[in-house]
Amino acid sequence: MQQADWIVTETTEDGFNPAQQHHTETVFTLSNGYLGTRGSFEEGYPGDRPSTLIHGVYDNVPIVFTELANAPNWLSLTILIGGARFRLDQGKVMAYKRWLDMQRGVLSRYVRWQSPAGQTFEFRFDRFASLADEHVLALQCQITSIDYAGPVEVHTSLNGYSDNQGYLHWDAVNQGGADHSIWLHVRTRHSKIDLGMAARLTISGVAAEQTTPISFQGYPTLVTRFSIQPEQTAYLEKIVTVYTSRDVPNPVLMAQDKLANLPGFNVLYADHEAAWAKVWEISDIVIEGDLNAQLAVRYNLFQLLSVAPRNDSRVSIPAKTLSGFAYRGHIFWDTEIFILPCLTYTQPELARNLLTYRYHTLEGARRKAKAHGYEGAMYVWESANTGDEVTPSWVPTPTGENLVRIWCGEIELHISTDVAYASWHYWQATGDHDWMRDCGAEMILDTAVFWGSRVEWNGDRQRYEISDVIGPDEYHERVNNNAFTNIMMRWHLRTALKVWDWLQKMDRDRAAELQQRLNLTSDRLQHWEEIIQKIWISQNANGLIEQFEGFFALEDLNLEDYEPRTRSMQSILGIEGANSRQVLKQPDVVMLLYLLRRGIFSQPHEDSYSYETLQANWDYYVPRTDHTYGSSLGPAVHAIMACELDKPAEAYEHFMRAALVDLADVRGNAHEGIHAASTGGTWQAVVFGFAGVHLTENGPVATPRLPENWTRLKFQFVWQGQVYKFDLRNPKTTKSQQHEDTKSTSTLPRIFPTAVPPSTRISK
Ligand code: BGC
Repeated sequence: MQQADWIVTETTEDGFNPAQQHHTETVFTLSNGYLGTRGSFEEGYPGDRPSTLIHGVYDNVPIVFTELANAPNWLSLTILIGGARFRLDQGKVMAYKRWLDMQRGVLSRYVRWQSPAGQTFEFRFDRFASLADEHVLALQCQITSIDYAGPVEVHTSLNGYSDNQGYLHWDAVNQGGADHSIWLHVRTRHSKIDLGMAARLTISGVAAEQTTPISFQGYPTLVTRFSIQPEQTAYLEKIVTVYTSRDVPNPVLMAQDKLANLPGFNVLYADHEAAWAKVWEISDIVIEGDLNAQLAVRYNLFQLLSVAPRNDSRVSIPAKTLSGFAYRGHIFWDTEIFILPCLTYTQPELARNLLTYRYHTLEGARRKAKAHGYEGAMYVWESANTGDEVTPSWVPTPTGENLVRIWCGEIELHISTDVAYASWHYWQATGDHDWMRDCGAEMILDTAVFWGSRVEWNGDRQRYEISDVIGPDEYHERVNNNAFTNIMMRWHLRTALKVWDWLQKMDRDRAAELQQRLNLTSDRLQHWEEIIQKIWISQNANGLIEQFEGFFALEDLNLEDYEPRTRSMQSILGIEGANSRQVLKQPDVVMLLYLLRRGIFSQPHEDSYSYETLQANWDYYVPRTDHTYGSSLGPAVHAIMACELDKPAEAYEHFMRAALVDLADVRGNAHEGIHAASTGGTWQAVVFGFAGVHLTENGPVATPRLPENWTRLKFQFVWQGQVYKFDLRNPKTTKSQQHEDTKSTSTLPRIFPTAVPPSTRISK
C-alpha cells in the first residue's frame, strides 16, 4: 500500500518533461551507504547524465586534484519492439508517472507508450540499491503489450564508458559472460582502483530464447528475444553486484560469486524493505497538518540516511552526496556541522563512521600544517581519500573566459574546529569513551596544537589575533579576526583542555603516548590558557559582534534594491564588489551563535550569550544576507534562530527554503546534485528549531514552537543510548504536549517539555 506522505511523485499532464531531466535525475537518486545512482532512465534519453558514484572511489583529475569516478552504468536496458527502440523521445508517451517510495527505498515508473508504428505498450520499472546488502542492485521491468503481437528483443549491459562530464576514468581490463550473466572488470586510470561488476538477467511470463552474452570491449551485453501477444506481460529482472579493490582483494571474482548465490528480485526486495524499516523506526519524523513539509522532511532524511556509509569508516559524505558531479565528491564542513547531528542523535554508529574518517585523514591534516609552516594538524577545506588538500586554487568563471583564485584551501581554517566540535558533541551524546580515547582526543588535541602555532600575538594591542582567513561567509576573503573563527578557536582550546584532563584520568598510558607524540608540554597547555584569555573579539555594548575587523566600515547596501533577481549577489556585484560590501553569502556571526547554543546543557557556560545579543546580531546580519542565491547552508540555520527569537513566520519561510532546495529546485542548481548540508540542516531545523530541543542533565527537553499549521510533530532522539520519543502537539490546536522515554526499564525521569518564554531561553 502506498501512502501519500511517503511518496515523491513526478507526474505531468503531457508526459515526461525533458526540460527537467537533470533535476529529476538528481531528485530520484538512490543510495545505500556504498554507492548512489542518479535517477536516469534504464533505456536512456538524449542528454541524460547517468551516474553511479561509489564512496571512496576517487581518481585524479586536473585542477581539482581528484574526483569520484563515475562507475559503469548498471541500468542499461534496451528494448526493441516491433523494430522500434523504446525510448521516451521516440513514438508517443501517452501516460507517464514516476515515484519514489521513501519508506521502502524504491524508485518506480509507469509509461504507456505508443511506438512509431502505432502499437501500444505499458512499461513498469522498479529499482533499488539494496540497503540490506550494499553490493547488490536490482531492477525489474514489466512490459505489457496492449495490441501488439510479435517479437521483442532485449539488450542489457554493463556500460564501462561512463564519464564524468566528458572525462573518462576507467580502463577496461577484462570482461566475460555466460548464459544469463555478464561481468566487467575495469580499473581507474590513475588511482588504480579495480572494480568488478556482474549482472544477471531473468525473464518470465513469456517464452524467451536463451539469453546470450555478446562482448563489445568495455560493454558486456546480454541479448534475448521473445514474442509477446496482446495483454501478455513479460517480466525482466536484472540483478547486479559490485565490488572494488577498496573492499576486497579480488572484486571481479567476488561480484560473480555473490551474483551466483543471490535469490531473485522479490526476496532481495523484502530484505531491503526490512532494512529500511529498521532505519525509519528510529529516524523518521512525523509532521501532521502540513503534507508539503512532511514530504520534504522525509525526502531530506531519505537522502541523508541512504548516503551515510554503513560499513566503511575511511569515507565520508560529499557535499552533493553521491548524486552529482558538483564539488567532485569532495567532503566539506557540511558533514560535521550540518549532517552529523541527525546521525549523532538518531543513528550514532553511523556518526561514528563519519568521524572516524577524519581520524583516518589526520595524517593529511598534519601534512597540511607542516606544509604551511605550522605545528599539529590543520584539516583541509576539501577532503577526499587521503586527507590532503584538494581544494582547487583556481577555477574557471562560468563563461570559462577567466580564472578565479580560490583561497579556501589555504585560509578557511574553521574546518579544524568544526571537526573538533562534531567529535565533542558525538562524545557528549553517546558517552563513547573508547572512541574518544582512541580517535577523538587525538584529533581535538592535535588541531589545538595547530591553533597554538597559528594565532599571532599583537604586542602593541596586547592580544592574540588571527589574520588572513575566510570565515563561513565566503563573500569575504582574506579578512582579519573573523569572529566565528576566533570564538570557535577559543571554544576549541577550552575543549582540548577538558579532553586532556579527562584522558589523563581515563587512560594514563594513552595520555602519556599522546603527550609525547603531540608534545603536550605544560608550556604548551599554559599557552592555550593565555590564548583563551587574550584572543581578540570585537563586540559592542549592545552585544553586536563585528563579523571581522573592518566589516562595519564596508559600504552598506540594501538587498531589496536588487530584487527581483535570479543570481547570487556575488555574481551581480563581482567578487571584489561583494568583498567590499556588507553582504553575506551565509550566516557567519549568526552561525557562530547557533553553534555556541546548539546541543549544550541549558545551564550558563563560558560561551553563553544573552537573548539581546542574539536579537542584535540577527537584526544586523539577516537583512544583509543573500538568502536565495547565497549558500544553501544558510536557510536552515536562519530557521532555527528565527525559532529562538520567536519569529514563526520567518522561521517557516527559511525552513521551507532549506527543505525544498532539491525537490522544488529552489536555487535552480539541483541538477548538480543533492545539497547534502541542507538535508542535515532540515533535520536540525525541525528538532532544534521547531521542537526547540536542548539538552539538560536529565536528557533532551523540547520547548516547542511549531508552525501554525503543524498540528503534531513526532520524532525520536537518542541520548546516551536511550531513545527519547517526542510527541508534540501544537498548543494552538491542542493543549497536550507529551514527551516520554521509550524503554519502560529506564531509570531516567520522565521529562515533560516546558514552554520557556523566549527571553529566558538563552542563558545570560
Ligand atoms: C559554501 C560552503 C560549503 C560549500 C559546499 C560553499 O558554497 O559557502 O560553506 O561548505 O559550498 O557545500
